[in-house]
Amino acid sequence: MAAKLYFLACLTAVTFLFHFTNARNAPSVTSINNSTFSQNYTHVCDPSRFSYLGLNMKDFAFCDSSLPYEVRVKDLIDRMTLNEKSGQIGDIASGVPRLGLPEYIWWSEALHGVSSVGDGATFFNDVVPGATSFPTIWVVKHFFFFLFFQAVSTEARAMYNLGQAGLTFWSPNINVVRDPRWGRALETPGEDPFVVGEYGSNYVRGLQDVHGTENATDLNSRPLKVAACCKHYAAYDVDNWLGVDRYHFDAQVTEQDMKETFLRPFEMCVKEGDVTSVMCSYNKVNGIPTCLDTNLLKNTVRGEWNLHGYIVSDCDSIEVIIDDQKWLNDGPEDAVAQALKAGYSVTMGKVKEEVIDRALKNLYIVLMRLGFFDGSPHFEKLGKGDVCSDKHMELAADAAREGIVLLKNANETLPLNSRKIKTIAVVGPHANATKAMIGNYAGTPCRYTAPIDGFSKFGKVIYETGCGDVLCKNESLIFPAVRAAKKADVTILVVGLDLTVEAESLDRMNLLLPGYQNQLINQVASESKGPVILVVMSAGGVDISFARDSPNIQAIIWAGYPGQEGGHAIADVVFGRHNPGGKLPLTWFENEYTDMLPMTSMPLRPIDALGYPGRTYKFYNGSTVYPFGYGLSYTNFTYKLTSSTKSLHIDWSKSHHCRDLNYTDGSYKPGCPAILIDDLKSCDDHNVDIELEVENIGERDGKDVVMVYWSPPREIAEAPIKQLIAFKRIFVRVGESQKVSFRLNACKSFEIINYRGYSLLPSGGGKIVIGDNLVSTAIHVHFQR
Ligand SMILES: *[C@@H]1O[C@H](CO)[C@@H](O)[C@H](O)[C@H]1NC(C)=O
Ligand SMILES: *[C@@H]1O[C@H](CO)[C@@H](O)[C@H](O)[C@H]1NC(C)=O
Ligand SMILES: *[C@@H]1O[C@H](CO)[C@@H](O)[C@H](O)[C@H]1NC(C)=O
Ligand SMILES: *[C@@H]1O[C@H](CO)[C@@H](O)[C@H](O)[C@H]1NC(C)=O
Ligand SMILES: *[C@@H]1O[C@H](CO)[C@@H](O)[C@H](O)[C@H]1NC(C)=O
Ligand SMILES: *[C@@H]1O[C@H](CO)[C@@H](O)[C@H](O)[C@H]1NC(C)=O
Ligand SMILES: *[C@@H]1O[C@H](CO)[C@@H](O)[C@H](O)[C@H]1NC(C)=O
Ligand SMILES: *[C@@H]1O[C@H](CO)[C@@H](O)[C@H](O)[C@H]1NC(C)=O
Ligand SMILES: *[C@@H]1O[C@H](CO)[C@@H](O)[C@H](O)[C@H]1NC(C)=O
Ligand SMILES: *[C@@H]1O[C@H](CO)[C@@H](O)[C@H](O)[C@H]1NC(C)=O
Repeated sequence: MAAKLYFLACLTAVTFLFHFTNARNAPSVTSINNSTFSQNYTHVCDPSRFSYLGLNMKDFAFCDSSLPYEVRVKDLIDRMTLNEKSGQIGDIASGVPRLGLPEYIWWSEALHGVSSVGDGATFFNDVVPGATSFPTIWVVKHFFFFLFFQAVSTEARAMYNLGQAGLTFWSPNINVVRDPRWGRALETPGEDPFVVGEYGSNYVRGLQDVHGTENATDLNSRPLKVAACCKHYAAYDVDNWLGVDRYHFDAQVTEQDMKETFLRPFEMCVKEGDVTSVMCSYNKVNGIPTCLDTNLLKNTVRGEWNLHGYIVSDCDSIEVIIDDQKWLNDGPEDAVAQALKAGYSVTMGKVKEEVIDRALKNLYIVLMRLGFFDGSPHFEKLGKGDVCSDKHMELAADAAREGIVLLKNANETLPLNSRKIKTIAVVGPHANATKAMIGNYAGTPCRYTAPIDGFSKFGKVIYETGCGDVLCKNESLIFPAVRAAKKADVTILVVGLDLTVEAESLDRMNLLLPGYQNQLINQVASESKGPVILVVMSAGGVDISFARDSPNIQAIIWAGYPGQEGGHAIADVVFGRHNPGGKLPLTWFENEYTDMLPMTSMPLRPIDALGYPGRTYKFYNGSTVYPFGYGLSYTNFTYKLTSSTKSLHIDWSKSHHCRDLNYTDGSYKPGCPAILIDDLKSCDDHNVDIELEVENIGERDGKDVVMVYWSPPREIAEAPIKQLIAFKRIFVRVGESQKVSFRLNACKSFEIINYRGYSLLPSGGGKIVIGDNLVSTAIHVHFQR
């Protein structure tokens, strides 16, 4: 399994590279234990290493903790020969025994819990047999994110102390789900670039930040708990669709889409999350391999966004040459190979040694910030008891409950009353889901709580699979499922997808449930004695309009891939121990959508000439199964706007010009349609304040996500229909109300990216819309000189 995952993650077109990594992928090589010259140390500069190294580590300037990291790292690099330097560039850095520098394995993963995918730095054994596995998509807000991510980094750090983990994790995945067929939708939080960016920067902060040092001013020496990596940069969201694969796909992307959609999460991740690493992707963008794109990497990530850390290529080999590519006329694969053979390249005069020095500097500064050289007093005490602790497993259950979305609840069938229910038929291919619940990039979880386990707390469970597996090619198992439904007081149908349908290197061909799953659902629902609750496990949306419209199906729940505690979470929602408040992070399109446009068409806006509809809720105006942001509760909330800024007057300088914007035919165009945001001296004072009161008028305490959208002035051609600009998760008790306020910065919230990629602030009347059109208010922007 590990080998297979490895293959998927790292398959590259370079035979040389693949063989190289494959040979090194011996089972579980640890960076700490297994290195003849690095036995039994906690950090590189530990003086006690003298006893087995015969080296006085304190004599090296790179171990002098009174010096700045830059000076120490320079000392370290200056001591290395060219050969030694080139040994440190791949994802397995060989170390330099004569300098007491041990091997270091860069590649570890922690997409939703510490994972064993990687080069073997992170692994499970008798000492730590598993780690907490959270849901694969965490559609929850801020402090929740934070707790979950901190739990992951605590487990990672504890495992590092035990010699079972690296310190550099190549997660999170923050590519936007542009097309509903994308196989890796399970790794990312959906289709909205702002939500994805918020998730990414919170993920990174939770993994990296050391409590009390978050606000350090010298970002090049800010301590790190573990290091995160935002991937895959950029415009990567086709894996394998009708023979088009990610290694060969050349994404044709406009400047507008690049800035507005594809780069936005990365910008937030670097600027707001201060991530230590960015991974470039396999695909090309407009003919240029992303890993060789000087403009994208050097000018944007390092220059404009000011990355403090390193760039890594997917998948292997740390950046060396990509910073300074001009000399290379090869394809990306050759370049990666060249990166690994950097020493060779230097002697061939292809790459300057200085370039390698610069790459190594970025790498070793990150390791110094991680305490690899000096130790990390903050984390030294973490150990076995901090992995899979009750607290963390409860957090995983919380995360799953918070992420569950209630899609249908006819006649208020849910929550079920456990006193009235004795027998529960739990049927369907996911009724006893275990591995499926943890998706990909998973480790070994602490345990599994399958749906049948979760429901057994509430009554006697009658279990039938209804299908052999998720592909459901055999209808002969439907009958036993129907028989179970006829006997029980309630029927829970647990259906959906898994990695055989949506995965890395596997995009979907349609948005339907596979095989006979629809038949299973319909037949069971029509003959069930009690109410029928449909639970869908999937990452991407599924066209279940038939179930939404069926009078035989009372309720529908979407559980995502809910992680190791999924069964508890689902049963808790069904029986009302938890009132759901999750919202869909992506549009659930009707299946016909996939016939209207190829997956490989990158533009987000509709292409009328080709009849292609727009993509995501921002540009698609047609009918859906369920829209972005949809999600019910067992209670009802009302929104009342209590105050809002109505207009903004923005002074700007005479020396700057008005910018043109395309308007729809026949509409009135103001004298000054827009100004360049960069022309404003400062935008800090241009804010819109909104305050609303959310009242819980139902019969249960509940959580709600208040989602704030901006609809740009309608006359502007090709502007998004609306775009999310803020969201807050709140908890309101029955009969009570809560004030919720937002301060929206004009330049961040009311920005339009024009067709040439400029950030503009448009004038005119837009609208702020809260929730699903529950409340809206006009907002006017005026410019004055
Ligand atoms: C690492 O070393 C410790 C102590 O020498 C030993 O108990 C442990 O089994 C080793 N782990 C591995 C994976 O070799
Ligand atoms: C340690 O790793 C090296 C390769 O890096 C390998 O040759 C050796 O057998 C390993 N030793 C142990 C005890 O696993
Ligand atoms: C590791 O360190 C401990 C304490 O410093 C020492 O007792 C032990 O012998 C060392 N083990 C090895 C393998 O060097
Ligand atoms: C860091 O800054 C934030 C925002 O100003 C503040 O809330 C937080 O308390 C600060 N943290 C520390 C440790 O100073
Ligand atoms: C549920 O799945 C687990 C793991 O695959 C298996 O061990 C167990 O027997 C299954 N339970 C039932 C009731 O089939
Ligand atoms: C379907 O399942 C039944 C019962 O397990 C089995 O006898 C039959 O061979 C299967 N049919 C196919 C086509 O796999
Ligand atoms: C809801 O109740 C009404 C009236 O009893 C009934 O006609 C309808 O079929 C029910 N809907 C569902 C989905 O159960
Ligand atoms: C919806 O979008 C299409 C382009 O995909 C456009 O032709 C149509 O006019 C739009 N309809 C409405 C009601 O805005
Ligand atoms: C308006 O749209 C046309 C056609 O897409 C484009 O060529 C032109 O440059 C646009 N002008 C502005 C100011 O956006
Ligand atoms: C919520 O509001 C809907 C629509 O007004 C109503 O049908 C439903 O009964 C209400 N539910 C609760 C729990 O108050």
